[in-house]
Amino acid sequence: MFEDYPKKITLPDGLSVTLRPMTRDDQYALYSFFVDLGEEDRRFLRNVVTDRKLIEKWARNLNYDKVLPILAEYQDNIVANATLHYQTFGWGRHVAEIRVTVAPEFQGRRLGAALIEELTTLAAKHNVKKLLARIVTNREGVITAFKRAGFSQLTVLKNYVKDLQNQQYADIALLVKELQPATS
Ligand SMILES: CC(C)(COP(=O)(O)OP(=O)(O)OC[C@H]1O[C@@H](n2cnc3c(N)ncnc32)[C@H](O)[C@@H]1OP(=O)(O)O)[C@@H](O)C(=O)NCCC(=O)NCCS
Repeated sequence: MFEDYPKKITLPDGLSVTLRPMTRDDQYALYSFFVDLGEEDRRFLRNVVTDRKLIEKWARNLNYDKVLPILAEYQDNIVANATLHYQTFGWGRHVAEIRVTVAPEFQGRRLGAALIEELTTLAAKHNVKKLLARIVTNREGVITAFKRAGFSQLTVLKNYVKDLQNQQYADIALLVKELQPATS
């Protein structure tokens, strides 16, 4: 499944970035990537990604069958992190969640779109039928990026998450991209 990596892709503006699965050696570079993100981009990610111990734990426990992290690199720096979270048991075995974070200087260059496409292909190979994205509703630009990539907004969960900074509750939009009809 990973024989295509590392894979070079060229963005519309001509920059080449390399996509590849994260390895244990990436933990410090990934930590730096998250620290360099804008406060606003970090604020509603699911985890406190500036917690070095958390990134160490992710690196230590890498298991591509549960969580597949694909990194984008430009000149030896991580410029995006995209993860596919498989639901490995129970009634949602055909569902995977996708999360994508692009470095501020690479946003708006279609890297996010390329990563969503990459993870869509990987998910389909893994027999996933529905891709889910959970996004805070006040991040309208992020929701637009996922809609452009083929996601439809199903519903909004009111007051579902709590902003880690100001302790305010926020609404979460559930967006789904159908990969194959879920008939079997
Ligand atoms: C959301 C995110 C991944 C999008 O990646 P990106 O590389 O900036 O987006 P792209 O350049 O690939 O844009 C893809 C499409 O979305 C649109 N889009 C992207 N950001 C947008 C914004 N802020 N407002 C409106 N539209 C936007 C683009 O215009 C483009 O549309 P097109 O297909 O019609 O050309 C990126 O902005 C990001 O990392 N945000 C912060 C982290 C975050 O909140 N991630 C979501 C967690 S699930």
